[in-house]
Amino acid sequence: MACLSPSQVRKFQEDGFLVLEGFLSVAECAAMKERIGEIMAKMDVPLHCRTEFSTQEEEQLRAQGSADYFLTSGDKIRFFFEKGVFDKAGNFLVPPEKSINKIGHALHAHDSVFRRVTHSPKVQQPRCGGEVFPHQDASFLYTEPLGRVLGMWIALEDATLDNGCLWFIPGSHTSGVSRRMVRNPACSAPGTSFLGSEPAWENSLFVPTPVRRGALVLIHGEVVHKSEQNLSEHSRQSYTFHLMEALGTVWSPENWLQPTAELPFPPLYT
Ligand code: FE2
Repeated sequence: MACLSPSQVRKFQEDGFLVLEGFLSVAECAAMKERIGEIMAKMDVPLHCRTEFSTQEEEQLRAQGSADYFLTSGDKIRFFFEKGVFDKAGNFLVPPEKSINKIGHALHAHDSVFRRVTHSPKVQQPRCGGEVFPHQDASFLYTEPLGRVLGMWIALEDATLDNGCLWFIPGSHTSGVSRRMVRNPACSAPGTSFLGSEPAWENSLFVPTPVRRGALVLIHGEVVHKSEQNLSEHSRQSYTFHLMEALGTVWSPENWLQPTAELPFPPLYT
């Protein structure tokens, strides 16, 4: 990928996000979608692990933080689901391929197609789509100093107003982190808790960012963003991962995601 132009850098610094259309080719998007289809076809999730993914505080604490399935997913390929896709017994109410919110968190390590695209960045969160409540990525991927985490969000299909494109509050990356999700001491329940709280962001502040398939959206770690629930007939798959500037940066030991002996954060430059 060519370097950003000075005006693109300025735009990113002002807004906290930047759209780069045509980052991946149509063929590259198709290959990743095909691979996701293959992975989902082999999906076998034990009943007790059928966890619905959410970024709303209470639901997170209940559904994710307390679940080993989530906390130990950093170096594995695991599945997280949309709301309302299971009955009380954990059986699918919709076709399984339409139930996924996110596949995380180590496709980059275990799958050759995704490894090739991502060139081994440091922290990754592959995602299939779905509603995401307003948040800052640094709430979950906290560093000292701040400003060292960059989200890479790649549209594998056109992302529109109807199927859940990203929305941003431009310029919201300059006012620190409102809340943090931190690990609680081992063996305590729930497994995570929040420090601080997410402000009730005014809806009118958000600007939609529809993009064509293959587009890359750069996301500053502190910019407030969200995506709406996809109620359309069209899926909106994306591939998301995060990079961290490691030099002079402390990765918070309280973050839910920690490098493991099996899968340390891979360096981008070696
Ligand atoms: Fe995010």
